[in-house]
Amino acid sequence: MEKVDTLNQFLIDNKLQAKCVGMTSKGCMNVFDLKIENNFRLTKLSNLSQELGLMMKSYAPPTLKLDTDKGLLQVEVLAERMRSESLIKDLSSETLEDHLALNMSLGTSMKGEKIITDMSKNPHLLIGGSTGSGKSALLHNIISNLLISSNCAMFIADTKGIEFSGYSRLSKRVKIVDTASQFNELLKYLIFVMEKRYLLIKNHPWINPINNTYFKPIVLIIDEFADLTMQDPSKECYTLLCQLVQKSRACGIYCILATQRPSADIITGVIKANFPARIACRVVSKTDSRIILDENGAESLRNAGEAIIKNYQYGMEKFQVSYSPLNEIYKFLYEKMATNT
Ligand SMILES: Nc1ncnc2c1ncn2[C@@H]1O[C@H](COP(=O)(O)OP(=O)(O)OP(=O)(O)O)[C@@H](O)[C@H]1O
Ligand SMILES: [Mg+2]
Repeated sequence: MEKVDTLNQFLIDNKLQAKCVGMTSKGCMNVFDLKIENNFRLTKLSNLSQELGLMMKSYAPPTLKLDTDKGLLQVEVLAERMRSESLIKDLSSETLEDHLALNMSLGTSMKGEKIITDMSKNPHLLIGGSTGSGKSALLHNIISNLLISSNCAMFIADTKGIEFSGYSRLSKRVKIVDTASQFNELLKYLIFVMEKRYLLIKNHPWINPINNTYFKPIVLIIDEFADLTMQDPSKECYTLLCQLVQKSRACGIYCILATQRPSADIITGVIKANFPARIACRVVSKTDSRIILDENGAESLRNAGEAIIKNYQYGMEKFQVSYSPLNEIYKFLYEKMATNT
């Protein structure tokens, strides 16, 4: 109860008309319920969130959420540092083995719950974060999840050319492109596949594109989109990518785009409109956070692997991406695939 007293004292000292009436602990998070009075100012409390975080010994600035059902304001405080769970452990769990869905078990939320999402429902995903924030590690997580949970074909665009090459040796379902010209050719090929699928849907009305069981899913993964656009002075890749993502979700082609530079010239309005699902890793400013999530928050993430997801399931959920070193992931996938074939 010591923490409740600290919070109540903080509220009195700052003349905030609210009182803590309960506390619950979930995972590494403590949630405090505040009963507020008529003249309580929410903006004043959110402006004081850094100070409140210090008083409460929180590992991140506390988040404020309204619980309209109970008429309470919830203050979420991170009581312990979030730690990455083992990706291999997540991949071994039975929950993923569905083969119809593109399930991905990405990590663990602050409340200690698993973050599991279906890529086909997302349906395009934008990932942003500064250098070293854990974007590539998140992509390794996603790729290995998809290799296990589904039979999808995967195309990976990676200008570094080495980071993901192991997957194409592990599975025939994965193809890698590493230059802008190859990337443009790949986009043209995917647009061709998309048009063919559309024609099939048009001529065979019984095909239900919504449940996506008819077409083999294709996932296009782009690591460092800004590098690709820099290599392509004509900016043809933009036009092609937009052409693809605007229509492709209805015929089982999904895109995951990661970028280190979440600036408005890279993540344009058209791209944002077509990527409803977002994951932000650590960024340097509130402006970057707003470009990725349309909200502040990612600037307060501290360590590599901490992220915020915003999609059809989660409003703004902070989580820790599960992580295993690459050699262990390859070893696990190699053994798993050898036993499955
Ligand atoms: N979920 C995680 N848990 C623990 N450590 C992590 C996690 N994600 C990343 N890291 C650590 O951070 C390092 C950098 O991660 P990563 O290469 O994924 O960053 P990045 O955002 O892709 O950087 P860049 O933009 O430079 O490519 C990793 O080598 C790893 O040591
Ligand atoms: Mg990277």
